[in-house]
Amino acid sequence: MDELKKIQSNFEEKFQNVKSKDDLQNIKTEFFGKNGQITLQFKTLGSLQPEKRKEFASNLNKIKGDLNDKIELKNSEIENIEINKKLKNENIDVTLPIRPYHQGKIHPVSQVIDEISSIFSEIGFSVAEGPDVESEYNNFTALNTPEDHPARDMHDTFYLEKNKKLLLRTHTSPVQIRSMINGKPPFKIIVPGRTYRCDSDQTHAPMFHQLEGLHIDKNITMGHLKGCLDYFIKEFFEVKNVKMRFRPSHFPFTEPSAEVDIGYKIENEKIIIGEGNKWLEILGCGMVHPNVLKNVKVDPRKYQGFAFGMGIDRLAMLKYGINDLRAFFETDYRWLNHFGFDPLDVPTNYRGLSK
Ligand code: PHE
Repeated sequence: MDELKKIQSNFEEKFQNVKSKDDLQNIKTEFFGKNGQITLQFKTLGSLQPEKRKEFASNLNKIKGDLNDKIELKNSEIENIEINKKLKNENIDVTLPIRPYHQGKIHPVSQVIDEISSIFSEIGFSVAEGPDVESEYNNFTALNTPEDHPARDMHDTFYLEKNKKLLLRTHTSPVQIRSMINGKPPFKIIVPGRTYRCDSDQTHAPMFHQLEGLHIDKNITMGHLKGCLDYFIKEFFEVKNVKMRFRPSHFPFTEPSAEVDIGYKIENEKIIIGEGNKWLEILGCGMVHPNVLKNVKVDPRKYQGFAFGMGIDRLAMLKYGINDLRAFFETDYRWLNHFGFDPLDVPTNYRGLSK
């Protein structure tokens, strides 16, 4: 019994000086650890007389309980003090101004490519792509363009090699070849992408963007081409009616070929698409030439269809009232802030305004 009293007062003495969690841990080890003072007392139980053992054990358990309670209490006291200290020192000043936050803008060309892609995807076109560096074969020869065609001229085309085998594609039409040679008909694709020509003024840049369309199947006619373009123009410009005319033209890879103009007028210095007495050329198109189909191993007696190619930058300028093409590629941050789009802007015409 004396022994227990001694342990208890020993504990009290040390306990008074406990200030931190470390101190508390030390005291725990000293009394309850493997060789702790209380633990050792439990080990003596076996050697005691049965009558004494009972009383001693109950005293020992009581003291063990008391000391444990004290330790627990102290532990939560220390934790409270620590939390209060933290709250005092680490408080947040909610009146501080927020850090400036700059959100980027989507370039009008990217925006328009997204809009066009969703409009054509509604009528079953999928998006295909091809490289900017093309072979002369895909860009000209496979597209039925004769050796002496003016488009092949050094003045129009950026050749990458003296022997003229590699070039920067002058249009997106070579992706017609790439898609058809790698697949089986039917084909129904659009191809947005960068194109290059030696040209530079207010309405021409040496690098610009085109959108190619190609639909090949068993019974595709020029009527489908007209219907498709009529749908597209209405959706894209968000107008209910559009005046459109097909002007006979020539491309080596289509027969017959046409250029498409849409009607417009100027009202209060703003361009109104679809009506009026003026005409604006927006694309070239036609029925894919049988020679092109033969070049990609598609039988022109079984399959036929249409293709078209339009300038994406031109469409973006018209829709969003931008009048100098060169501004598109000058990467002027102020310009982009003004004409750019917020990310996640869903095109307003996505669900088919003209229906
Ligand atoms: N590739 C032609 C151009 O650049 C446009 C076009 C594409 C015409 C498809 C007819 C068919 O000008």
